[in-house]
Amino acid sequence: MTKQLNVGMIGAGFMAKAHSVAYVSMPMFFYPAPAKINKKIIVDSNELLAKEGKEKFDFELWSTDWRDVVNDSDIDIVDICVPNNLHYEIAMEAIKAKKHVFCEKPMAISSAEAIEMYEATKQYNVKTMVAYNYRKTPAVLLAKKFIEAGDIGEILDFRGTYLQDWSADPNAPLSWRFDKKISGTGVLGDIGTHVVDIIRYLVGEFDEVNAHMETYIKERPIQEFSADKLGMHIMDSSVEKRPVTVDDYCNFSIKCKNGAFGTIEATRNAWGRKNYITFEIHGTKGSIYFDYENRDKIQVCFANDPADRRGFRTIITGPDHPYGSNLWPIPALGIGYTETKIIECYEFINGIVNDKPTSPNFFDGCQIELICEAIIKSSQTSQWEKVQVLSQ
Ligand SMILES: NC(=O)c1ccc[n+]([C@@H]2O[C@H](COP(=O)([O-])OP(=O)(O)OC[C@H]3O[C@@H](n4cnc5c(N)ncnc54)[C@H](O)[C@@H]3O)[C@@H](O)[C@H]2O)c1
Repeated sequence: MTKQLNVGMIGAGFMAKAHSVAYVSMPMFFYPAPAKINKKIIVDSNELLAKEGKEKFDFELWSTDWRDVVNDSDIDIVDICVPNNLHYEIAMEAIKAKKHVFCEKPMAISSAEAIEMYEATKQYNVKTMVAYNYRKTPAVLLAKKFIEAGDIGEILDFRGTYLQDWSADPNAPLSWRFDKKISGTGVLGDIGTHVVDIIRYLVGEFDEVNAHMETYIKERPIQEFSADKLGMHIMDSSVEKRPVTVDDYCNFSIKCKNGAFGTIEATRNAWGRKNYITFEIHGTKGSIYFDYENRDKIQVCFANDPADRRGFRTIITGPDHPYGSNLWPIPALGIGYTETKIIECYEFINGIVNDKPTSPNFFDGCQIELICEAIIKSSQTSQWEKVQVLSQ
């Protein structure tokens, strides 16, 4: 009989929806699934959202206190889908109670918190996953396959972007994402870290960074509702405004340990860009280009093609590509955000049930926090700053 794992989800907003869909769908894509997931309890400090979350996402129970979940002996997995400042406390309690932890990104609001969280996972021997799900896009996994096979040779340089426009209007509301005490950083932690994760995964560990960060829109109208509206409801300009205490823009150069050099740029104020995650990686034998707004495709150019036909070719991912046979039987039906969450969910559950390594785990999440710390320091000193690299 298929094993069953009970999940307790903390937070009933945007990510609760994405994770709930993945728990239901994963066994249909990865059949037979390593385990079925029983959506046992959902928690939100907002009672209305907790009750609604139970119905909408089909949980057995609801609560407004996350401690009910982490101390419940029935719970196998604690799934953290709340704002960033709560990840540390919830994860630490959950790990000490020997629960496996699926934590949304960024893992914490400081590297000090993240290091403690990582150390605790080693002490209590639990499985973790930090939800940098974009690296699970089949086209990104295909890029990894090309790089590992040596198809583009030694990596020389790269550039990555994550550009959105949902906060470009100055009257987009001041949600928790603009409050340093809750979010830790702004665009850097919220979206820049996804590209940091992808570049670390594809190119290698960061050695030094040189960064520039800006806050263009210095105050925004207050948002009363707890879950972030992500700029969907532009406020009347007469609503009281409060200061934005995080960055809206960051741009940094990176030197990797293996000598590769590159840049990453992130903003949520780039009109016209919706979820523009891109990377272009140049090696001694070829190049790879990816754009998440066209995420079924990857472009590759190989130097050893005959000169008269050398150039970028487009590969549309499908059943022949990573996880393709689990997804859809023909290419170009359209890979979406949900598929990345389903693959992430499968790898986490498979890791728990079959004692396999999970990735990105709390080691990776922690290393990304150390990179963010160096980026922030460099934006203050205007100098290259070394990234502390942990040993596993
Ligand atoms: N991987 C991704 O692509 C991705 C995308 C969006 C958000 N995230 C991350 O997911 C996390 C949640 O973001 P979101 O967009 O779902 O936020 P959200 O604002 O939509 O939802 C957060 C929910 O947490 C609840 N909450 C706040 N304090 C609480 C507490 N003490 N106890 C219980 N519930 C509490 C709020 O009421 C709200 O409903 C963040 O860390 C964010 O960075 C990741």
